[in-house]
Amino acid sequence: MKTISVLGSTGSIGTQTLDIVEEFPAKFKVVALTAGRNLPLLVKQIQRHNPEVVALADESLIPELEQQLQTLSQTKGPHTSPQILGGPDGLNAAASWKSAELVVTGIVGCAGLLPTLAAIKAGKDLALANKETLIAAGPVVLPELQKSGSRLLPADSEHSAIFQCLQGTPWAENARLSTGIPTPGLRRIQLTASGGAFRDWSAKDLIKATVKDAISHPNWSMGRKITVDSATLMNKGLEVIEAHYLFGIDYEFIEIVIHPQSIIHSMVELADSSVLAQLGWPDMKLPILYCMSWPHRLETPWRRLNLTDVRELTFRAPDTAKYPCMELAYAAGRLGGTMPAVLNAANEQAVAEFLDEKIHFIDIPKMIETACELHKTDWSESPGLEDILLIDKWSRKIVQEQVSKRGS
Ligand SMILES: NC(=O)c1ccc[n+]([C@@H]2O[C@H](COP(=O)([O-])OP(=O)(O)OC[C@H]3O[C@@H](n4cnc5c(N)ncnc54)[C@H](OP(=O)(O)O)[C@@H]3O)[C@@H](O)[C@H]2O)c1
Repeated sequence: MKTISVLGSTGSIGTQTLDIVEEFPAKFKVVALTAGRNLPLLVKQIQRHNPEVVALADESLIPELEQQLQTLSQTKGPHTSPQILGGPDGLNAAASWKSAELVVTGIVGCAGLLPTLAAIKAGKDLALANKETLIAAGPVVLPELQKSGSRLLPADSEHSAIFQCLQGTPWAENARLSTGIPTPGLRRIQLTASGGAFRDWSAKDLIKATVKDAISHPNWSMGRKITVDSATLMNKGLEVIEAHYLFGIDYEFIEIVIHPQSIIHSMVELADSSVLAQLGWPDMKLPILYCMSWPHRLETPWRRLNLTDVRELTFRAPDTAKYPCMELAYAAGRLGGTMPAVLNAANEQAVAEFLDEKIHFIDIPKMIETACELHKTDWSESPGLEDILLIDKWSRKIVQEQVSKRGS
């Protein structure tokens, strides 16, 4: 029985993780849950999974949560009450909870950074969905992984595909997982991208893109932020940086390929020119389950992939003029140091402003580019945690200022 902490349990990754736990009650047990503000769902999850601890990011909601749990125990009979914590310290405590063996990081954005570091420092293995943490703070996270011996198992479907293709190589058996150390024999990575909500739109029509259009993903069902990131292709740009940190491969050997069917989840080219790919229906449960069961595979009743149902697998090069975020991410990744943190925070803020309907879809890359340009004079190669946190705040402020200037 593997014990699991689920950070961001009320989100898309979190709920799918809990679905898996329910499918395999003899294999997994939830010991810790964290959420932002979604009390109704969190209460249901507590009733179902009976965790030892629960942490709410918004600690002002703790009295309401306690009240709801008390009412439930009066009306539906006694059940074990979890310890309830709140705020940043509460999230860190849940992330490093003693009885947890694996921590699934499903918090969205850089808000996941401190809990992720807490889990690493406590020596937990991680199923990493919260890519923003690694992108913003790779120079801080990687040394901590090496110190603590925590293993970083990729839950992102593309990085899971790469990881799965590399099983059985000497690297996978002998080296530590995912510490930015170059993977012997790995020559090239091809990250597949669905193309997001606007893959069939012309670049000139993007001026008309609404929030409703951007959050309608053709293949995947995900949270709002990552769905917008898929529409700008920033998600793929962030994944390029994630792949660089996870597998220690240079940017010139990480390529993006548009693959509208989302059946091939990514490909690796090895030293002898062999190319390996991992295939499956677009369903995040598979990469999450693989993190949870690794190095084993569990028998599932899930829909089997039949290529005659899929009929065709197509590929094309991405249009860099239509998707400027991709190039911004490559440039930030190549420079490294503090620049990916600036890119990530500017993107988070710009996407939030777009979702609030304060800016157009096409403004997102422009605002990120401005933040990255302004940061060039203050760029630092080897930032510490404090530097990253300050830069994150600064970058969000730069985007907010651009938005207010437009409003005035
Ligand atoms: N969804 C996918 O299929 C997918 C695929 C690959 C990678 N990922 C990555 O996984 C992460 C989660 O994505 P998602 O789509 O699951 O997001 P989501 O559906 O928006 O869920 C986000 C979760 O984070 C919590 N949260 C929000 N703000 C928080 C804060 N300030 N402090 C603590 N918790 C906070 C939310 O709590 P409340 O809802 O309770 O407020 C929710 O539980 C992202 O980094 C994303 O890039 C997701």
